[in-house]
Amino acid sequence: MMVLSIADLQRGAHNVLPSMVRDYLEGGAQDERTLHANPAAYRNWQFMPRRLVALNDIQTQAKIMGDTAAFPAVVAPTGLNALFWPEGDLALARAAQRSQIPFTLSTASSLSIEDIAQQAQGRNWFQLYVIERDLAFDLVSRARNAGYECLVVTVDVVANGKRERDLRNQFALPVRYNWRTLWDGVSHPAWSWRYLRHGLPVLGNFNTPAARSPAARAALLSRAMDRTFTWETLEQIRQQWPGKMLVKGVLHPQDAARCRQMGIDGVVLSNHGGRQLDDACTALDILAQLPRFKDFNVLIDGGVRRGSDIAKAVALGAQAVMIGRAALYGLACKGEDGAYQALSLLHDEYRDTLLQLGCPATSQLGPDYLHRTAINNHIQLPESRFCMESA
Ligand SMILES: Cc1cc2nc3c(=O)[nH]c(=O)nc-3n(C[C@H](O)[C@H](O)[C@H](O)COP(=O)(O)O)c2cc1C
Repeated sequence: MMVLSIADLQRGAHNVLPSMVRDYLEGGAQDERTLHANPAAYRNWQFMPRRLVALNDIQTQAKIMGDTAAFPAVVAPTGLNALFWPEGDLALARAAQRSQIPFTLSTASSLSIEDIAQQAQGRNWFQLYVIERDLAFDLVSRARNAGYECLVVTVDVVANGKRERDLRNQFALPVRYNWRTLWDGVSHPAWSWRYLRHGLPVLGNFNTPAARSPAARAALLSRAMDRTFTWETLEQIRQQWPGKMLVKGVLHPQDAARCRQMGIDGVVLSNHGGRQLDDACTALDILAQLPRFKDFNVLIDGGVRRGSDIAKAVALGAQAVMIGRAALYGLACKGEDGAYQALSLLHDEYRDTLLQLGCPATSQLGPDYLHRTAINNHIQLPESRFCMESA
């Protein structure tokens, strides 16, 4: 298979994965309108390239949370990565390290916080789900002791999104075997062979005595989070974690403003890849309306499939994008090498976009390079909702 794009890797992943796993990877909430709106949001912006600029040295590097990365991207936290490839978390962490960008380990990882810290020496970030407060504090201190660079607190999973593909497939771990799942496995022999050898994913962070296992594990798998998790809890987490901290899943500018006031380092504008609230707005549209900050880091995710998408996000003010499914397609095809191939494709396309755009460096990208095309889905929000003064 000739791989020229993320779409090629996506096709490869679809060929190799049983339909239940493919649906877990691809699915969104309800009618999947937000899922489809995410990549579509990028099509609402076109480039206005500049000409006759010296382009002999294109600088794709970017500062992400204070440190330099090879290009403005971070591997997003994704749970149950071992469904796509054995030890999938480690494969992704190493691919990110090779690509010189940060990797984010999910609370729902198959390898533990400590395993990843020992086996992958790149820029490791840890993503926290607050399932239960004491457990959350325990995970935070484990991540701190293991030397994670940044804590990413996800706040957009109050309960599981209604993912109808998963409901129809009765997706669960351990897998419920029936004729359909068995046939699914038989017709995808490469995947099944790997799982006969390595086993199905476990929740690596819940294998220690400290993590109150059965109830917490069940809650995580069904995404039954702590519904009393509020700004006060976030404040407590901030006190426990003095290092770099991002809040992921923010979409309302006033929530971003509140994070900034609390002394949190930044936000990841995100609708969780369209997996939680259908008809949630896209991160890119909100980004386009936020003021720019010197003292607050704004990352975005959702629907990034091309290096040109990264350039658009950066031009609109994002420090970096998080890469979710695009890296997972590569992982499902060829493990670490496939994930690295996905990240390299995005890096190369990003470099090529800067070149074609007549923009020599990430630091010079700005809204002047963009032209908004869509008029149909742009909602003008009242000024008062964007009352964050820029610094
Ligand atoms: C299979 C899968 C699992 C995910 N698991 C998590 C998770 O454990 N924690 C989290 O904060 N976000 C999770 N996400 C959301 C991603 O971090 C990210 O927001 C989203 O994938 C970005 O959209 P994209 O896939 O279109 O790039 C998951 C997404 C996918 C596709």
